[in-house]
Amino acid sequence: MDLNILVMAAGLGTRMKSQKAKVLHRLVGQPLINHVYHTALCLAPKRVVMVVGHQASDVEQVLKNFHSRLLKKAEQNNTPVAPEFVLQTEQKGTGHAVMMAKKLLARDSTPILVLSGDVPLITTNTLESLFTQHRTLNATATVLTTKVANPTGYGRIIRTQQGNFSHIVEHRDAGLKELEIDEINSGVYCFESQALFAALEKISPNNTQGEYYLTDVLSILRNQNDKVAIYQHKAPEEVLGINNRIELANAEHRMRMAKLESLMLDGVTIIDPNSTFIDLDVKIGIDTIIYPNTIIEGETIIGENCTINPGAHLINSHLANNVFIRDYSLIVDSFLADQTTVGPFAHLRMGAHLEAGATVGNFVEVKKSKLGQRTKAMHLSYLGDAIIGSSVNIGAGTITCNYDGKNKHTTVIEDNVKIGSDTMLVAPVRVGQGSMTGAGTVVTKDVPENSLAVGIPATIKKRLI
Ligand code: UD1
Ligand code: CA
Repeated sequence: MDLNILVMAAGLGTRMKSQKAKVLHRLVGQPLINHVYHTALCLAPKRVVMVVGHQASDVEQVLKNFHSRLLKKAEQNNTPVAPEFVLQTEQKGTGHAVMMAKKLLARDSTPILVLSGDVPLITTNTLESLFTQHRTLNATATVLTTKVANPTGYGRIIRTQQGNFSHIVEHRDAGLKELEIDEINSGVYCFESQALFAALEKISPNNTQGEYYLTDVLSILRNQNDKVAIYQHKAPEEVLGINNRIELANAEHRMRMAKLESLMLDGVTIIDPNSTFIDLDVKIGIDTIIYPNTIIEGETIIGENCTINPGAHLINSHLANNVFIRDYSLIVDSFLADQTTVGPFAHLRMGAHLEAGATVGNFVEVKKSKLGQRTKAMHLSYLGDAIIGSSVNIGAGTITCNYDGKNKHTTVIEDNVKIGSDTMLVAPVRVGQGSMTGAGTVVTKDVPENSLAVGIPATIKKRLI
């Protein structure tokens, strides 16, 4: 689109009562500013300029990281435009914030869409309609407004007798009559670039906050007979600003519910949406059942017909089809093939990889390890840096002693091995296929194929075939 986007994101967000800049607070797993940037990108603008100030370098880093993640996922002919940054060292108001971008955006006549970093629920559709109306009416400026049940805190839209735009009064500057107005300024606007920057030269901080208000630009334009239009949006929940943690929680609830509803409409059973937390990028196949009190985060993918029991917490993991996660299991950065079962109370992390039909049971931790097809580790084990073949049985209490105090070492267990209860595998070590270890064995040297190892340290007792 022939459009530049400016995002105001320099404020601290005093009402958040936080050490952290407001736009870095998370909403459904992503900093607020990423939501706004993502929506901006969906409009395919020429440039996206971010006005940063409070914790500027952190905000920049967050956006740069997000941009490179999007770049990796993007198709070749649809690469997301990188964010550009301008610094507002002192936060003297929204008008002052926009002035900071003059050098970058006043060069040509590309219209500017101004967004607020703290209005993250706005949709691309709404912004498109705003821009279309702005164009159709040939307006110099268009402000996005909406009617709300509780306008407290927002700037009120004052209309002329004919119902046209007159000016905006901030809540703090408003008189009693004005406070009754329920049409509010969303903080989202379209401007013709040259007119915007010319009018910004004329604003002054004559208000209760001593700030340069961007909203004053609109009355300046109107008073010089430029066309200032209103685009009144019918869905107030989209333009809710986030100024305190109650509003943050409300927005979180709204976005999560929307995600859960879209999953349910796509064939996923969610038994109790009120106690289920699923991030926006998560994908889930049909007939999967999600029990209450579950958290599914990041870029997790779950296949069809899986069961996720209460208390499960999945992060950036991939579950194929017919996977069964039993109660209270934590699964991070892991892959689980078809028909695998995990838990209850299991911990999989850092590239745990379970092949089809593998089972990990109660109080088992698996780190950076691969379990082959139909392999079972049912009780009380630690499997770290292990490569385990298929149809292996890991007895209760088995531990891969992978750390010698300095380095991590690998344990290899080949196909059809039976590891006896309470075996310690002191890595680096290999147990050959078809072998067995006795209960309580401490394996310090490689065990050849088809043999029985017992004792501390283990010795080879006999050949099994
Ligand atoms: C602003 C509008 C108000 C509107 C509301 C909608 C003004 C004067 N008021 O009020 O009419 O109803 O948004 O949500 O514009 N920012 C900067 N630099 C600054 C000040 C603010 O970058 O110097 C950024 C903030 O980080 C924030 C955004 O601008 O992302 C809005 O600022 P905020 O202080 O939250 O304005 P509101 O009081 O909500
Ligand atoms: Ca705000």
